[in-house]
Amino acid sequence: MQPTSLAESWNLEQILDDLNEFGFAVIDDVYSHEYVHSLVHECTSHLAEFRAAGVQNGVVSHIRSDHILWIDGQLPIAQQHLKALEVLSQTLNQAFYLGIKEVEAHFACYNAGEFYALHRDNPQQKNDRMISTVFYVHESWQEDWGGQLRLQDKNGQWHIIQPSPNRLAIFQSDLLHEVLRSKQQRLSITAWLRSGSSIWNQG
Ligand code: OGA
Ligand code: MN
Repeated sequence: MQPTSLAESWNLEQILDDLNEFGFAVIDDVYSHEYVHSLVHECTSHLAEFRAAGVQNGVVSHIRSDHILWIDGQLPIAQQHLKALEVLSQTLNQAFYLGIKEVEAHFACYNAGEFYALHRDNPQQKNDRMISTVFYVHESWQEDWGGQLRLQDKNGQWHIIQPSPNRLAIFQSDLLHEVLRSKQQRLSITAWLRSGSSIWNQG
């Protein structure tokens, strides 16, 4: 099944309700096993091309130790996920007038010991990221492997979200969050739904 048509089966009403009330939503069993399998394959067969996310233009930041690969036309399986997020964006635009125009995304790989410290994806509204999404790509995960997404909702409450396989976390890009130190290889796609073609750098 195409993820785009699968996206139509997502519980959009629940997503909208949760985003409205808490600023974040989590959905499970997002895609077919076939799709997830081909996504894992696409991700793992490109791991050698991943680059340290904490290094930008030669400047090293210690806030994160994961490695990433930006998604473009060379990654057709991941592109299908982006297409599904474009469908979701239309719904979010209708519900919340977010003016989302594009989706930007990268694969991320956290090897054992890696983390992403507390941050916002859109600090001081300095870029045009409206909504952040993270899809967990690895095929299995255990609760004691760390690597949780810890997130403060729009009401100030903290939540711990397990990076369960085939799960999609969706949250306002201005919310504080972090990735706790992972004990195993943790694979994901982070995608941002953006309100324009920004001149701001990716990162
Ligand atoms: C990010 C991020 C959270 C996660 O990539 O900016 O916060 O659970 N990811 O991977
Ligand atoms: Mn983030």
